Amino acid sequence: MKPRVLLIDDDPGTLASLSRAFALEGYVVDTASAASQAFERLAAEPVEAILSDVVMPGMNGLEFLAEIRRRVPEVPVILMSGQATIEMAVQATRLGALDFVEKPVGLERLLLTLRNALRLDRLERENRELLHYWRDELALIGDSAPMLALRALIERAAPSDVSILVLGENGTGKELVARAIHELSSRHDQPFVKMNCAAVPADLIESELFGHEKGAFTGAVAQRRGRFDQADGGTLFLDEIGDMSLAMQSKLLRVLEDGEVLRVGGANPIRVDIRLISATNRDLGRLLSENRFREDLYYRISTLSIRTPPLRERREDLPALATHFIRGACRRNHWKEPHLSPEALDILRAQPYKGNVRELRNLVERLLILSESDPISTADVRTALPSLATSSRSAVPGEGTLYDLTQHYEREVIRERLRLMMGHITKTARSLGLERSHLYKKCRQLGIEMRETGD
Ligand SMILES: Nc1ncnc2c1ncn2[C@@H]1O[C@H](COP(=O)(O)OP(=O)(O)OP(=O)(O)O)[C@@H](O)[C@H]1O
Ligand SMILES: [Mg+2]
Repeated sequence: MKPRVLLIDDDPGTLASLSRAFALEGYVVDTASAASQAFERLAAEPVEAILSDVVMPGMNGLEFLAEIRRRVPEVPVILMSGQATIEMAVQATRLGALDFVEKPVGLERLLLTLRNALRLDRLERENRELLHYWRDELALIGDSAPMLALRALIERAAPSDVSILVLGENGTGKELVARAIHELSSRHDQPFVKMNCAAVPADLIESELFGHEKGAFTGAVAQRRGRFDQADGGTLFLDEIGDMSLAMQSKLLRVLEDGEVLRVGGANPIRVDIRLISATNRDLGRLLSENRFREDLYYRISTLSIRTPPLRERREDLPALATHFIRGACRRNHWKEPHLSPEALDILRAQPYKGNVRELRNLVERLLILSESDPISTADVRTALPSLATSSRSAVPGEGTLYDLTQHYEREVIRERLRLMMGHITKTARSLGLERSHLYKKCRQLGIEMRETGD
């Protein structure tokens, strides 16, 4: 789409000639010949840049600029003036004008200024979006007791330089914790470098970590810096450290003790200054007792251990997490943000989440793609749930009476829904579209045991 710009000048001749020139350059041009008219135009249609004369009847140019900045603070403004003084230009810049062009303006110069203004504006917008994106991605959501304790521990541990081991199940936010520690540490403006020890093949891990010299092995066509080197001054995050081989563990231990790395094939050790954060979802206690993890390395990497709680231990955080992921996905995809109906949220809350927060995030994002309603309904959630989606595709039996099969199916459906609603009878009845008394009768008739937990 062509950028729309607003031209403001009280001289009709200037307005006409500039309009023509800008239109020829592909801009959609809006014009105003006085401040009041300019405000009307701005209210009627958003513009991407404003070019304005400074001296106009009815309003002082700088007051006018201040008012524009107040109404549309994000739109770049270029001022043009025939009586420009340096002082005026300084004041205009202070008020947020992007540029100050002297009249009579050279058209080429004005077009260039406008192009630059629009480019700068686009960069700033992208920058803001990126910032939002990272703030979203790095936020540790949840105010449950385990999350408050986790946050307090992170805040206490971050400023010190001790090595930290983050322990927790899949998808509980171990990497987020590592990044939060880095962000809150004095190393926050230095690199955060991550290596996943489980993802790098065993024979490459040494060169990945410590780097290599040219010709150190077949394929080492150039010198390469290792992760230690890259993280110098900052934080090195060793993910899935429980998957590291014993041989590699001893090499890592030596580097941590000496504070020096030797590139593969290299002769001179390089001093590195890193803060180490490691993480694993493995049971390190067991690996230690089975001699699959070195005890001395364990003590070296875990001056402090931090445990990320599984989602089932903090179900009260589920609404905030779900809302957070909905908002993030909608912002990224420029979708309108739907609400979650309370019943839909109940179903979400009742899931087991073996994959923890990551599973919830995937479920919510799938839900946004599949759902067409606002608020999101229970039916939408059921479609997005993987377990129910597969069971609904089960084969139709080739024998049995219709009565028996229907009874069997009804029993399954009611049992599953009771489970999802954690035994809450009223909610189960509502989500099945039944009266509470009707659900009671059905359960008695089908021989379903009801254990009230929530009513
Ligand atoms: N408390 C939280 N608040 C917001 N998002 C979270 C939280 N915990 C986890 N997430 C999100 O869940 C996903 C998984 O988090 P992360 O990668 O940090 O988990 P992990 O513990 O490292 O998992 P794995 O062991 O599988 O690598 C990410 O998208 C992350 O943003
Ligand atoms: Mg991880």
